Amino acid sequence: SLVFQFMWLKSWLCHGACVEVDSDTEAVMGRGFKLGCISCKMRGEVLASATVDWWFMAKGESEFAYIYSYADMTGYIMNDRFDERLAWNGSKKTRDVQDGSIYILNVTFNDTGTYRCFFDRTLVFSNYEYRTNATRFISINVVGKATRGIASILSEIMMYVSIIGLQLWLVVEMVYCYRKIAAAGEEALREREAEYLAITSENKDNSAGVAVAE
Ligand SMILES: *[C@@H]1O[C@H](CO)[C@@H](O)[C@H](O)[C@H]1NC(C)=O
Ligand SMILES: *[C@@H]1O[C@H](CO)[C@@H](O)[C@H](O)[C@H]1NC(C)=O
Ligand SMILES: *[C@@H]1O[C@H](CO)[C@@H](O)[C@H](O)[C@H]1NC(C)=O
Ligand SMILES: *[C@@H]1O[C@H](CO)[C@@H](O)[C@H](O)[C@H]1NC(C)=O
Repeated sequence: SLVFQFMWLKSWLCHGACVEVDSDTEAVMGRGFKLGCISCKMRGEVLASATVDWWFMAKGESEFAYIYSYADMTGYIMNDRFDERLAWNGSKKTRDVQDGSIYILNVTFNDTGTYRCFFDRTLVFSNYEYRTNATRFISINVVGKATRGIASILSEIMMYVSIIGLQLWLVVEMVYCYRKIAAAGEEALREREAEYLAITSENKDNSAGVAVAE
């Protein structure tokens, strides 16, 4: 969603770091839907590799079914229910996966339920490896038509407010810099003028001196 993307953009702009953002929870029938799942490394600088697995428990069912596996930069759909309907939407071109999101194509009402995302990560230190894991649960509701929660509307308004705020700040900063540069330029000009005056008066003195000597 817009909010999800924006939070990513913001985190990338501000820290260049991984930020765990919650997934959207409302999918629309017949459309695509991104199941977000992010698990950040505790220490960003440590080398790591991770695999991601997804399970799904449909509404009314009592057990999770294995639906997707991602390892060594390759994803596999593990369940007929999602045949040709899941695509990797997470970290690309790296074994060091921190975004394990997947994309459901052509959502059906039967996709309503709870999804479980599991990260199995190996941190590689110089002398040893350390294995950690993380689990996230995401409850998805499928609706016939896109409805918008007040939170989503508010956050979009906030986004525009902050974009406008950012632009105003840029303008203020530009004006400030321009003034600073202009002031510095004027000062340099005044200095040069003073220098010039000093030189010309010196020259005058000299020529006066020469005249006297003659
Ligand atoms: C997610 O996957 C869908 C379908 O493959 C694709 O259209 C979309 O661009 C992907 N988005 C990201 C952020 O990877
Ligand atoms: C999506 O699924 C519906 C049935 O659930 C099907 O009629 C339709 O053709 C599908 N669309 C795509 C793009 O696969
Ligand atoms: C949804 O589930 C019901 C019951 O399991 C099944 O009859 C139906 O065909 C399913 N619909 C789709 C679009 O997969
Ligand atoms: C996840 O980590 C915990 C604590 O380190 C460990 O006890 C558990 O066995 C791990 N689970 C899996 C499935 O690897």
